[in-house]
Amino acid sequence: MSCPIVVGNWKMHGDGRWLATLAGIAEAAAAAPQIDVALCVPATLIHRAASLCPNLAIGGQDCHRASEGAFTGAVSAGMLAEAGARLVIVGHSERRCAGDDDAVVAAKMAAANHAGLRAILCVGEDAAARARGDAVAVACRQLLAGLERSDRALVVAYEPVWAIGRGLPPTLEEIAPVIAALRATLAAHGRSDVPILYGGSVIARAVPALMAEGMVAGLLVGQASLAADAFTDIVEAVRRVRCAG
Ligand code: PGA
Repeated sequence: MSCPIVVGNWKMHGDGRWLATLAGIAEAAAAAPQIDVALCVPATLIHRAASLCPNLAIGGQDCHRASEGAFTGAVSAGMLAEAGARLVIVGHSERRCAGDDDAVVAAKMAAANHAGLRAILCVGEDAAARARGDAVAVACRQLLAGLERSDRALVVAYEPVWAIGRGLPPTLEEIAPVIAALRATLAAHGRSDVPILYGGSVIARAVPALMAEGMVAGLLVGQASLAADAFTDIVEAVRRVRCAG
């Protein structure tokens, strides 16, 4: 059985004052060697984070589709890798809202893979699509677009947009049909090896329900990764679920 995966996403939080939090998260990771723990920090913190915590996988939160060029303010996947990142989030809904369509996400997947980074492809419907009954269609369309240009180093994160940042995760019943459809889509493309994470308002006390029945291989954590204690509780909850299972 492969390791469960827990990835923190600090979004636009984290400067030099956050190094103690980072060290706390690295400690939690070291205490749970049976879990694959990673933390995606702002690009400006990657080098320091990777140097300070060599045993914690540090990631970026986005990359440009090109390897270099006249793209003011952008950061390429190769630059992230050179700074010390081992993975990168691609297609997060907050980037899709800022203009990343399926084609751009696919190109970013290729760029991430080319740079040797493990890509975490985020997919998920918004509230309107769910209300229309299109949750499965949207998530699977986004998955197929990202899958087309990626190699084996891939993780999929199902993050329903309506569940992000609301403080309370959905029930397993609400997300299970989409996760099952994503799994079937991966299998149909010979990619059953790709782990599927859940993300959106993950908190420690919801972990047993979210991880029940082996539905997901791990979690992508936003808000609750900003405090070492809260994130440590999630890692510990995942460890307990896995040990019980
Ligand atoms: P959240 O964010 O845990 O704060 O809902 C998750 C994400 O956007 O990756």
